[in-house]
Amino acid sequence: MAEIKPYEDDAEKKEQIARMFDNIAGKYDFVNRLLSLGVDRIWRKKAIHLLQKDNPLKVLDVATGTARVAIELSAELPHAKIIGVDISNKMLDIGRKKIEEKNLSNSIELLYGDSEDLQFKDNEFDAVTVAFGVRNFENLAKGLEEMHRVLKPGGKLVILEFSKPIVFPLKQLFKIYFKYVLPTIGKVMSNDRRAYKYLYDSVQAFPDYDRFLSVLNDLGYKKSKYIIMTGGICCIYTAEK
Ligand SMILES: C[S@@+](CC[C@H](N)C(=O)[O-])C[C@H]1O[C@@H](n2cnc3c(N)ncnc32)[C@H](O)[C@@H]1O
Repeated sequence: MAEIKPYEDDAEKKEQIARMFDNIAGKYDFVNRLLSLGVDRIWRKKAIHLLQKDNPLKVLDVATGTARVAIELSAELPHAKIIGVDISNKMLDIGRKKIEEKNLSNSIELLYGDSEDLQFKDNEFDAVTVAFGVRNFENLAKGLEEMHRVLKPGGKLVILEFSKPIVFPLKQLFKIYFKYVLPTIGKVMSNDRRAYKYLYDSVQAFPDYDRFLSVLNDLGYKKSKYIIMTGGICCIYTAEK
């Protein structure tokens, strides 16, 4: 996968990604909801719901950002302990504030942590989730390998990620919206045009659908499959250790 970075300087992708999310953290939730017309919440809920029948008691939410998935997880799985990790301290600060306001500090803990070098023991989690995170990893295989390591045998991985719609006219509309409309609205809202240009470029470069399943299978995941959401704007990928 070609390395797509947000900015035009020499810093490594991970540093640029953390900087980009630190820049847009204050507006992230609002802009997200606005640009997706609220559909992103439905996608997250559907992904999380896939874990309900497994009733996992310890869940890791990688690239947790402002804790949107972690908070939904605690509603869906009230007995679970949820740990969220991210490399953007500003995103984590906002997430922590939300958790406190919602009185969820007993069930959710947010930590600074890099998906490519997780600070947890082997076989520690019943489930791992990542929403709109894997596309941003500097080293996709390393991140997926680390999640495999910390999952218990039989534990489930649930990944939500943008994909490229393949059907007419969604494919064409998606291109116009993502490539032209979104960076303009994103700049006005968050003052960082590059962040939303990066969104389009990184979705184009991401190995979606079967290509992503191949990556998972090559790393030792089992029973990998995907569910296409909203005509292919995004996919939920699931797999087991
Ligand atoms: C688009 S946001 C998604 C946040 C959240 N999961 C959600 O659904 O709203 C992507 C997040 O991935 C984080 N991220 C990117 N690379 C990471 C890495 N290597 N380790 C941990 N977090 C990472 C970013 O800092 C950012 O907060």
